[in-house]
This record gives sequence, structure tokens and C-alpha cells, in this order.
Amino acid sequence: MAEKNNVMEKITSLCKRRGFIYPASEIYGGFANTFDYGPMGSQLKKNVKDEWWRHFVTEREDIVGLDSAIIQNPRAWEASGHLSSFTDPMVECKSCHGRFRIDKIIEEASGMSLEENFRNYMSGWWSDLRARTEESANDHDETAHKLFAEAEKSKEELISEGVKEKQFEKEYEEYVKNHQIQYEYKGFDTLSAELSEFSRIAKEGVPAYMTYLVAHDSLICTKCKNRTFTFPRDFNLMFKTYVGPMEESSSVAYLRPETAQGIFLNFKNVIQSTRVKVPFGIAQIGKAFRNEITPGNFTFRTLEFEQGEIEFFVENNDHESKNWYKIWLDEWESFFLGLGLKKKNLTRREHSKKELSHYSSGTADLEYNFPFGVSELAGVAQRTDFDLTQHELKSGQDLKYFDEATGKKYLPFVVEPTMGIDRAVLAFIVDAYDESDGNDGRQAGEVTLRLHPRLAPTKVAVFPLVKKEGLPDIAKDIITTLRKAGISTFYDESASVGRRYRRQDEVGTPWCITVDFDTLNDQMVTLRDRDTMAQERVLISDVAGLIQEKLNS
Ligand code: GAP
Repeated sequence: MAEKNNVMEKITSLCKRRGFIYPASEIYGGFANTFDYGPMGSQLKKNVKDEWWRHFVTEREDIVGLDSAIIQNPRAWEASGHLSSFTDPMVECKSCHGRFRIDKIIEEASGMSLEENFRNYMSGWWSDLRARTEESANDHDETAHKLFAEAEKSKEELISEGVKEKQFEKEYEEYVKNHQIQYEYKGFDTLSAELSEFSRIAKEGVPAYMTYLVAHDSLICTKCKNRTFTFPRDFNLMFKTYVGPMEESSSVAYLRPETAQGIFLNFKNVIQSTRVKVPFGIAQIGKAFRNEITPGNFTFRTLEFEQGEIEFFVENNDHESKNWYKIWLDEWESFFLGLGLKKKNLTRREHSKKELSHYSSGTADLEYNFPFGVSELAGVAQRTDFDLTQHELKSGQDLKYFDEATGKKYLPFVVEPTMGIDRAVLAFIVDAYDESDGNDGRQAGEVTLRLHPRLAPTKVAVFPLVKKEGLPDIAKDIITTLRKAGISTFYDESASVGRRYRRQDEVGTPWCITVDFDTLNDQMVTLRDRDTMAQERVLISDVAGLIQEKLNS
């Protein structure tokens, strides 16, 4: 893991140094879980989004696009369940005032999931309680025996003398007090209090358990190692704002936590304006906002991020929903693989029932093997007709789809493939990062970012061998031709050609062109491939066509 963390540090540093990703507001000391994309990063991100849109919208007949508002009528979030259910339990450290998701603190400290930790703790507690109850009962019997032997009376004798059970207890108490003997019932009191606490927590489950851990100072602050926290409280992840000049409850609005709802809100508009037929999808790429309180592993978890989501509407039955769920899992995976992500780094994980979001009847994550651990990159969920039903109910509008072929009117089921664009960008960078071991013609430690050519921010770098003899002018003419053909280029005339190659390898440029003295005679240039490092001579007039061909292959 130390080595893997080290890779993450190197990637973060490369991203900053070469203009991919910067910490946001850096001159003011940064801003938690927020990043800016530099010249290279913004182009890379745009390329990911363009590929997504081309793949899922432009090239498909059954999906249409949408670009909905970030701030919608707050009633939408009431209907979608985000106001009541989109929450994380959070605690605040009383010493450093750091705020944490309590489940994350528990998980980090124990190396187990919260649920596992809970079950483990409860079963340990239960066996301990049983053992101590038995022990205490034995002790008590012994003490009682001793006491009555001293008093030369047994419990039965006392009762037969007319001492009622209740009185017996009282007498016994008196006796113990008089004899200044430790009152063994006390042990039972503690045990019975513990037992009732155990039963309460077992019944109320994980939330009560979290509170119990805080009450018993059993958690440790990951920042300052202090042990006292505020009690956990549910914390809604939506960013709240106010529309208009008055900050009052009637003007509260929310920044969307997922792009999906904008799609549901426009379902009726889209079917009326485009005459799409089930099964069909509505696709959208856009910003989503979550007031995340867990530190985020670079851009993995941020306050604002982009999502690429499709709500795919199918006939309203489980069979169709499950069928499309499988299809979309394959489609989603092949998007990443088609853009070069290594298959060995991608896994699928079905959610357990407990994990499912409030709207889902089945979800699977596509997980990526990030240097900080295998984590969610994208997902596919079966949302059934949950959202459309809720919006129909709250808005009072008829949102049903009318199937002309069958005459049936219904709310379609929804299969939702979703991905984080920023997470996709991070996965593509991590996957492409390659440090030479010195056996591939490069020097040990030299970095090549083996991005898929369609994702690479710069497609072609053009170098004049020297800054004289008209070579820069030829290089600049090539740049102009390539730019006109829509191919992103970079001109570099400083340092040795070898050095210039290395600079481009580090930012993932797939091809470099060198204009040399021979070019003056044969109108040919050297085209060098980033991955194979092979070089070929090509006519200047063929360059743009050749690059286009390579990009489309
Ligand atoms: N509409 C369904 C939905 O929003 P989600 O699993 O909460 O589902 C979808 O989010 C995707 O958005 C995730 O797979 C992840 O890639 C990305 N994502 C979620 N929260 C994120 C965050 N705080 N920062 C970056 N990406 C995030």
C-alpha cells in the first residue's frame, strides 16, 4: 500500500506540474475536496465527455440528450426522497472540530465495514455479558450462602417465618448493610443495565451503536487523536441556498446532488417533443454537488463533480428491467475498456440489500483498482418506477407513457447507468501512468502517460530540429494545417528533441513530428509514436489525413 500511495503522490504532483489538476483556491490555502482542471486536464476531461456523448447519444438511435438546470423547484427533492434520505451520519471532534462521517472513522479504525464491525462488537458483548452474568450469579450464591449460614437462617426459613419475598429482599439488604458486606446485587444491577442497553442497541441497530461508541469515547479522531465527539446526527448532503434577496424558509433551494432528477422532471416534455418510443434513454452530462465530509483521495470524492447519466426507460416489469440492467452493465464496462482502461483493473460488485439507495431495487458498481484501493467508478441501478411515481404523486401531473402499439398507458421502469466524469478522468490518468524500468528504450523513472489517443489532450506535437534555416516556419505551417483539421497540437522548439519527446510522453501526446534539414528537400517529416517509439518518414501533405485515420481507428 505504501508503494501504491507513493504512486498516488507522484500522479498528484505530475497533474499539478503539467497542468492537469490543481488544488482549488490554492493561493488562499486551498479549499477542502475541491480542484481545478488546468489546460491539459480541462482538455482531457472534455475529451472524455465528448467520447461519452458520441458513444451514447450521437451514435445511438434510442437515446436523446438533455441539459437541465442545476437548481430546480425544491419540491422535486422532496418527491425524489433526497430531502429525507440523502443523508450521512456525521460527528464533530470536540477538540479539533474536524467533521467526519462516523462510519468512515469506524471503518478506518477497525478495517471492517460498519455493519461487520457492529455484528462483531455485539456478538463479543453478548458472550462477555453471559460469562459475567454466570460468574456474578455464582459469586452471589456463595455470598448468600455465607450470609444465611451466619444468620443461621435460610431464605426458605425466613419466608416460612412470614417474611414476604419483598420483605426478604429488604431484610437481606438490611442484613448486608449491617454486616458491611459488599452488596452483591449491585453486580446484577450493572449487568441488567448493560443487558437492557445491549437489547436496545441490538433492536435499533447501527445508528444506536454509533451513538453508543461516541458515548463511551470509543472513537479516535483521525486528525488529532482526541476521543470525544459530538453525538452523530444525520447530515443532508445537499447544498442549500436561497433564491431571491431574503434568506427565509420559503426561498430555500438546493443544488442538485444528481443529474438524474432533471431527466425525470423532463420526461413528459421529451416524450411529447421527440416521439421517442420505449425502450429509450435520456442522457445528460452535468455538474452535481454534495456536501461531502469525508476527505476525498484527490479528485475521487469532491464537493462538486460531473456526472454522465442515462435514465433508460423500459416496459414496467422486472423482466425487462433485469434484462436492460445486464445490457447496460456490459455497455458501461465496454465504454471504459474501449478507451483503454485495463480489464484487470475493473471489477463489478453487486450491492447488498442493505446498501441499496432508497430508490433502487438492484445496483451494481463498476469498481476500479485505484492506488488508494478498489473503489466505485460507475454504477448501474434499477430504479423501477420509483421516481416517476413520486413526481406524479407530488406534482399531480400525469406522467404516464402511452404505448400506441398496445394501447397501454403506464409509468415505465428505469435502468440507470451512471458514472462520475471526474472519477473516469482520474481512472484514465492512473491507468495510463507508466514509469519506465529502464528496459524499454527509456531511462528508468521516465514517465509516459499512455492515454488513449482520443483522450490525449494534445494529439500531435511539432518540433523544428533547430530554430533556424526556415525549419520553424515549416513546423508552424504544419501546426496550422492540423489545427484547421480539428487536431489539437503543440509547438515546441526548445531543448534537444529527446527532451521534447520526454515532455510530450509525460502529458500523453501520442505523436510527435520533427521537421529536419531533409524536410527542406523531400517535404517529409519524422513521425514518432509515443508507445512504440517507432519513427517513420511521412509527407507533410499526408500528415493530417494520417493522424485522422489513426484517431478514428
Ligand atoms: N443518479 C445516481 C447517482 O447519483 P451515485 O452512485 O450517488 O448515484 C453516481 O453517483 C456516480 O457519481 C458515482 O459512481 C461516482 O462516480 C460519482 N460520484 C458520486 N459522488 C461523488 C463525489 N463526491 N465526487 C466525485 N464523484 C462522485
